[in-house]
Amino acid sequence: MIAVIGATGNTGSATARELMSLGEDPLCIVRDAAKAERVLGAEARIAVAEITDRAALEKTLSGVRNLFVVTGHNPQSGEQQINILEAAKAAGVEFFVKVSGGRDIVGPEVESIVGRGHHAVEQAMRNSGLAWCILSPGLFMQNMLAQAPSIRDDGKIVQPYAKDFPIAFIDVRDTGALGARVLLNPAQHAGKVHVFTGATTNLEAFANDFSEVLGKPISYVGVTVEQAEAAMKTRGMPDWLIAHLVAISRAGNAGAFSNENIRPIVDIVGREPLTTREFVEAYKDAFS
Ligand SMILES: NC(=O)c1ccc[n+]([C@@H]2O[C@H](COP(=O)([O-])OP(=O)(O)OC[C@H]3O[C@@H](n4cnc5c(N)ncnc54)[C@H](OP(=O)(O)O)[C@@H]3O)[C@@H](O)[C@H]2O)c1
Repeated sequence: MIAVIGATGNTGSATARELMSLGEDPLCIVRDAAKAERVLGAEARIAVAEITDRAALEKTLSGVRNLFVVTGHNPQSGEQQINILEAAKAAGVEFFVKVSGGRDIVGPEVESIVGRGHHAVEQAMRNSGLAWCILSPGLFMQNMLAQAPSIRDDGKIVQPYAKDFPIAFIDVRDTGALGARVLLNPAQHAGKVHVFTGATTNLEAFANDFSEVLGKPISYVGVTVEQAEAAMKTRGMPDWLIAHLVAISRAGNAGAFSNENIRPIVDIVGREPLTTREFVEAYKDAFS
């Protein structure tokens, strides 16, 4: 059996949907069954477990062979995913697939606590005795959903990058498409780190996609990392999240999201990665 932890989130829901479209019936492990039904539909197979609840996880994972794990970023995410890994091992899971961060974001001494957490989980996977695969996507197009009020109400995208700075975004639906195929073929993917992105673009071009698809001008406003940090403080965001996003922006401006690698999507999924234009078309209602 295949299971997805984080199946109500961006990437996990895309992975579960892709598996269902390929004729599989994945077990979607979630903390909120009503949300899961809303996000995944009544036909989805759902089990409830908190990722911090070792006993519940172990019980839920009984009979699962291939497990996909993607959880939200938070200061405890490393420990939470190691808890999942230990429960998976105890329950007899054979293949553990994790969505991690970009290679420049993950490491034992990187600035972001989330990146250090990813590194700890990756190390634990390598030492676990389980077969494993790490997915390392580029910057998510879906991050743009956080800009929806600004796009809708002010016609603006505000980000801490120059307008022509090269960024190779990825749509989480591509990560889901790749993840589903990895889960279906452990022998081909065990022991691999798949680093992948969509095609290179920039934020001015992304804003142009919005203008064309929404039929009204959307302008791009590039700000400094310091200005973005001050704006997040004004909005009252938690300190750890501001620190994480500042670290990501600094790494991004040093090129962490600028290396295009579309090969894994082309070779494993068998099509070109989705474009920013396709992203805007698919999510048009959220920005209108
Ligand atoms: N954003 C980027 O550009 C980017 C780029 C590369 C890598 N990443 C990595 O991708 C991951 C985020 O992916 P995403 O955006 O797909 O995540 P997401 O949408 O935030 O989804 C997180 C999932 O984890 C579940 N979850 C969180 N806490 C839980 C708990 N205590 N018990 C059970 N389930 C719990 C959430 O459930 P609920 O729906 O109930 O909250 C949700 O299903 C992070 O690890 C991040 O570092 C992000």
